[in-house]
Amino acid sequence: MRNVVLIGFMGTGKSAVGRRLAWILRRPFLDTDLEIERLVGKPVRRIFSENGEIRFRSEEALMCRKLAVPRGLVVATGGGIVLNPENVANLRNGGVLIGLSADPEVIYRRVRRKRSRPLLRDNVRTRMREILEERAGAYDVAEFTVDTGVHSLPKTVGLITGFLKERGYLEAGSDGQSGSVPELPDIPR
Ligand code: S3P
Repeated sequence: MRNVVLIGFMGTGKSAVGRRLAWILRRPFLDTDLEIERLVGKPVRRIFSENGEIRFRSEEALMCRKLAVPRGLVVATGGGIVLNPENVANLRNGGVLIGLSADPEVIYRRVRRKRSRPLLRDNVRTRMREILEERAGAYDVAEFTVDTGVHSLPKTVGLITGFLKERGYLEAGSDGQSGSVPELPDIPR
């Protein structure tokens, strides 16, 4: 079964929606940021400060190579994952890309107090607007997008499952593979 991959800017609700969607669909849930933290052994914030953004992006790229196969997962991605076209191609190979969006003010309210995002450490509102501008159009690679500033969490999940059902993405074998394989292959690092 194809993976269901949530993409979108920081603070659009990928992790919360992903967890709930996975629970509703009874599928394993994977959060790429958490998986990278587990593999590297430190929080994303420290990977950025101690090893640099390039290291983080290469871990992300590796993660996308592992996700290039349908495994029936629900995946929440980091907001910058779609900036690398190779990541998009890999994620699309294994799954369907679902976008989450929200108005900049809604995003600001959600991210302003969190200290965990290295790209939004100081001047949160200005940085956020700059990055949003830099990434204009980057999330348009999604097949279906829900505005989480407008729709509640249950409604968002309902809209996504509705879309997936309508397109036949939830049918076993719809990708020519049988069953789900939750284990990720070990690609040498
Ligand atoms: C990033 C988003 C973060 C995290 C990292 C970089 C980005 O994830 O991957 O801080 O470049 O947009 P969230 O989108 O879950 O905050």
